[in-house]
Amino acid sequence: MIPAFDPHALRDEFPILSEQINGHRLIYFDNAASAQKPRVVLEAMEQLASHGYANVHRGLHVLANRATEAFEGARASVARFVNAPEAAEVIFTRGTTEAMNLLAYGLASSIQSGDEILLTEMEHHSNIVPWHFLRERRGAKLVWAPVNAQGGLDLEATLALIGPRTRVAAITQMSNVLGAVPDLPRLADAVHGFGGILVVDGAQGAVHFPTDVQALGCDAYALTGHKLYGPTGIGALWAKRDLLERLDPFNGGGEMIEIVTRDRVTYAGLPHRFEAGTPAILEAVGLGAALDWLMSQDRAAIELHEKALHDRAVAGLKAIGASLYGESPDKGAVLAFNIPGLHAHDVAQILDQSGIAIRAGHHCAQVLMAALGVSATARASFALYNTMEEVETFLAATERAQARFARVRPQQAGAHA
Ligand SMILES: Cc1ncc(COP(=O)(O)O)c(C=O)c1O
Repeated sequence: MIPAFDPHALRDEFPILSEQINGHRLIYFDNAASAQKPRVVLEAMEQLASHGYANVHRGLHVLANRATEAFEGARASVARFVNAPEAAEVIFTRGTTEAMNLLAYGLASSIQSGDEILLTEMEHHSNIVPWHFLRERRGAKLVWAPVNAQGGLDLEATLALIGPRTRVAAITQMSNVLGAVPDLPRLADAVHGFGGILVVDGAQGAVHFPTDVQALGCDAYALTGHKLYGPTGIGALWAKRDLLERLDPFNGGGEMIEIVTRDRVTYAGLPHRFEAGTPAILEAVGLGAALDWLMSQDRAAIELHEKALHDRAVAGLKAIGASLYGESPDKGAVLAFNIPGLHAHDVAQILDQSGIAIRAGHHCAQVLMAALGVSATARASFALYNTMEEVETFLAATERAQARFARVRPQQAGAHA
């Protein structure tokens, strides 16, 4: 039996959570967009900036060594966090978006016209647009795996789409709208059976589930710092060494080379080959601190806690007649919804007046919005520091918003945003 997780015990570690917003204590349910940062992350960056800062890798002085040690220590933390076989397979990027662009660019020269790239309808644009580049530039064909009626990935239909032309399947570990969690090990086996590779967008999944890239069976995995209680502008790509060694370098410049002459260039080994220029040193160290902190928490208990928040919010929203998107049994703690007759943006704005931050819009998932037949949804997304009292306050505010709107425009009740 997993002991219950008490979010109150660590809320003090997040300075922003005691802020007043519009005269109300902040309730932050926009975690899937970007999570708040614990003091340990802010302090790690401050400490390095104040006492250990210099450029990394090339220095021959104390500060350069200190900074390099902290930077490479952060890489080791990422490797531990995803259970990478070796830290050199971890490439620092600006986030998941850059990781996906790096992969798609690096693979481009090996993609032939008609080669297939399998995506799901629930991908974030950062795991769609880089592959569209390969469609436009290399003649690749994008193949779309469907979402089922429950808002999960239709596994059987997806497996049927994987075949000898599938070079890459690029699939989310957890949808940022539906919360759905596809069966990645099963998909990995299927893709590998035809000699393709499985690329996983871990931007959301890494936050809610302990991640083991070896158990997932994937070939590449991307995560992003700011959703993982870390800083912006930093993320990581893990990929198998033999895949990384097959990729064309992405950015050119200092640090990623071995020898540069007038008519030739040779490249550095991993991971430096993919890290041109001065990296985001402070941010990488902040990410390392965030991951170390997260790994020190009871993640199984956190998962149950977040699920309890999610399930209570689902029940409360259903009780007021909201439409919910994404009700597959295995899902992470994000909740997309619409209130009949009320535009998602209005819901977000009304809640904001009560100090409650949620998201509204297409969530960078326009293909999914089209499949769902909506242009936008509201979205509440939960983090380990959220509490059941906050969910109750959110539900009460949502109910008030619905009642207020029903009085103002009763004729439109039932219409969807
Ligand atoms: C599923 C998913 N993938 C990728 C991203 C992009 O992350 P970033 O903007 O940090 O690169 C997001 C961000 O919302 C996301 O939710």
